[in-house]
Amino acid sequence: MQSLNEIRSAFLGYFEKNDHLIIPSAPLVPQNDPTLLFVNAGMVPFKNYFTGAETPPSPRAASSQKSVRAGGKHNDLDNVGYTARHHTFFEMLGNFSFGDYFKAGAIEHAWTLLTKEFKIPAEKLCVTVYHTDDEAAELWKKIAGLPDEKIIRIATNDNFWSMGDTGPCGPCSEIFYDHGPHIAGGPPGSPDEDGDRFVEIWNLVFMQFEQFADGTRRDLPKPQIDTGMGLERIAAVLQGVHDNYDIDLFRTLIAASKELVGGGSNGPSHRVIADHL
Ligand code: SER
Repeated sequence: MQSLNEIRSAFLGYFEKNDHLIIPSAPLVPQNDPTLLFVNAGMVPFKNYFTGAETPPSPRAASSQKSVRAGGKHNDLDNVGYTARHHTFFEMLGNFSFGDYFKAGAIEHAWTLLTKEFKIPAEKLCVTVYHTDDEAAELWKKIAGLPDEKIIRIATNDNFWSMGDTGPCGPCSEIFYDHGPHIAGGPPGSPDEDGDRFVEIWNLVFMQFEQFADGTRRDLPKPQIDTGMGLERIAAVLQGVHDNYDIDLFRTLIAASKELVGGGSNGPSHRVIADHL
C-alpha cells in the first residue's frame, strides 16, 4: 500500500519528470491577496501569474498546497464528518501551465498519471465537461478513448470554476472515480450525484478569463491550466478504501482520539476532530 506521503511524492515526481518546477506549499494565510481569508485552492498563490501581473519562475509548475474550505465561496464545513470525502483542511495536488500547454496537455497528463502511473482501471473513471466545451469532450474521446456516455456535459457552475467573486476563472473538466454499486450515489449530473459513490478526484480548469467586482470579465493574456486533486481523495482510491477517513493519516488520528475519550463509534465526532487536527 502506498502511504499518503508516497502518493504526494509520486504526483510531484511525475510532474517534475515532465518539466514542471516543484513549488513548496505557501502558508494558509494569503500573502498578497485581500480577497481571501485563507488559501482555498492550489492556484491561489499563483493568481498574479494567471492574470499577467507577475512573471512566473517557470512556464510549468506543480505543488501540494495546504488549503482550507470553511467559509466563503468554497465552503465544505457543514459536510465534514458526514460524507466520505469532505474536509475543512486538506492538501490540493496541482499542476499548472502559465501560457504553456492547454486543454490537450492537461488531459494527457491527468490520464497518463491516473491510468499508467497510478494504474487506476479506466473503467472506474468518468469525466464531466462544461456543456458548451466541445473541444474538451473531443479531447477526452481522442486521448483517453472514453465513450460518449462517460463524458458528461454539465451546464451549471460546477463546471465553471472561479476562485471567488473576482479573479481568474474558466470552464473546467472534472474526473470522477466510481467506488462501486455498494455505495449510495449516482453519476455527476444525476439527481443523487451528491452521494459518495462517484467521487470527484481531479478538477482540470481551463483558465481563460478574469472576473471583476463590477461584473465584467476580460480574457486572460493567455489561456492557462490550473488543476486540483485532493490528496486525501486520491489516497483513498489508491489505498483501496472508500472513505477518506480510512486512509493511513486519518486512521492514526481517529485511533488516538478514540483512545483519549475511551472509545466511541465511527460517527461524525471523531472524524470532525481528526479533520480539525
Ligand atoms: N482551482 C480548481 C479547484 O480548486 C482546480 O485546482 O478545484
